[in-house]
Amino acid sequence: MNKPIFIRNAEQLVTLKGSSKAPLVKKQMSELGIIENGSIWIENGVIEAVGTDKELFETYKNYLTEAQIIDASGKLVTPGLVDPHTHLVYAGSRENEFNMRLEGATYMEIMNSGGGIYATTTRTQKASHEELFHESYERLNQFLLQGVTTVEAKSGYGMEWETEQKQLEVAKELNEKHPVDVVSTFMGAHAVPAEYKENTDQFVDHLINEMIPKVSELGLAEFNDVFCEKGVFTPEQSKKILEAGKTYGLTPKIHADEIEPYEGAELAAEVGAISADHLLRASDKGIEAMAEKGVVAVLLPGTAYFLMAESANGRKMIDKGVAVALSTDCNPGSSPTVSLPFIMNLGCLKMGMTPAEVLAAATINAAHAINRPESIGSLEVGKKADVTIFNVPNYMKLQYLYGVNHVDTVVKNGRLVVKGGNLIEKLSLSKTSTSQFFMGKA
Ligand code: NIG
Ligand code: FE
Repeated sequence: MNKPIFIRNAEQLVTLKGSSKAPLVKKQMSELGIIENGSIWIENGVIEAVGTDKELFETYKNYLTEAQIIDASGKLVTPGLVDPHTHLVYAGSRENEFNMRLEGATYMEIMNSGGGIYATTTRTQKASHEELFHESYERLNQFLLQGVTTVEAKSGYGMEWETEQKQLEVAKELNEKHPVDVVSTFMGAHAVPAEYKENTDQFVDHLINEMIPKVSELGLAEFNDVFCEKGVFTPEQSKKILEAGKTYGLTPKIHADEIEPYEGAELAAEVGAISADHLLRASDKGIEAMAEKGVVAVLLPGTAYFLMAESANGRKMIDKGVAVALSTDCNPGSSPTVSLPFIMNLGCLKMGMTPAEVLAAATINAAHAINRPESIGSLEVGKKADVTIFNVPNYMKLQYLYGVNHVDTVVKNGRLVVKGGNLIEKLSLSKTSTSQFFMGKA
């Protein structure tokens, strides 16, 4: 049993209190529930008390010698960051395509000539379970160093059952063995395999009749995602896949309106998706439908940045009443980053969000996007003790001083895992493996 942890006297303690019932919208996204000189008492992995240091000292003064004390004076304390959209489990990297795009090739051209998602699929098919596990474990270490304590992870680099299963099993094992929690999504509909190119409907049937039932039977995922995009899966095909998933207990998510407008946002509202992600080219009608149905918009400005495209209109979505969350989209093609704080900065500078809104978007709204609002995303009594401490005095400065990793301390599940900006040593699989595995070998 770990000792209790007493985080003391934060300059600002961002609680996001009262946000577990429904995702935050409009002005609510700016109500961070800040406690000045704030403290948290953590016991058995759970938050036992949150308040001012004065209040908590009064309550716990007789137990101080039993606790591990973390002095947060001068610092910003927030809920552990939540990343609700990643393609965490993959092999290899694609810096060659980055170079090609800088010379003028487009993302879809590269994909349609057999690179892109297909290139990573080949690498992922060839990798063993162990190789994938090690590569992804190191990525999770990097996420943790950026203050992220929960990530969603999608399959989709399989395009056949064996590899899809391997990716989902790796995600499951990572969830068991790595401190960061990993929430799984089946994304068999990530691209159309070459052998089905002339008959996509047949692949859709294969997903519906073979793969989705197996995912459900083996309990390998909670969500079902599809890349609804011109030249990939049509809205009709996407709808079929998402509806089929629902009958097997898989909640719909959707890669919507990423490259071309395709009524993906509308579809998300129609099928009752928990989130619609990307939305760079979402229509006004689609945005309104999402607001009405309470679909969370998971925005990925790092992808727009990396693909040199215009970001989604986060400002407009918030003003129209859509709950906005933020994510890295961590993947080797369109957004090879693990830095959610950097994405938050892009949220401010590329999507017109405020520092308060991006913090709500990367914590509680992200938790809502992966159906975890009761356990993570805010600092409230009874929630999991997932806490990030930044070496800045306030949340505005976290965005203002951009390009620097301000993470000082991370407590995950009531356990100290990052201290002084470094992982507690035993988290690293092997001292020499970090650079080799991070983001894959070329
Ligand atoms: O979310 N758009 C589809 N899927 C990923 C990219 C995957 C890749 O390029 O490997 C995305 O952008
Ligand atoms: Fe994605």
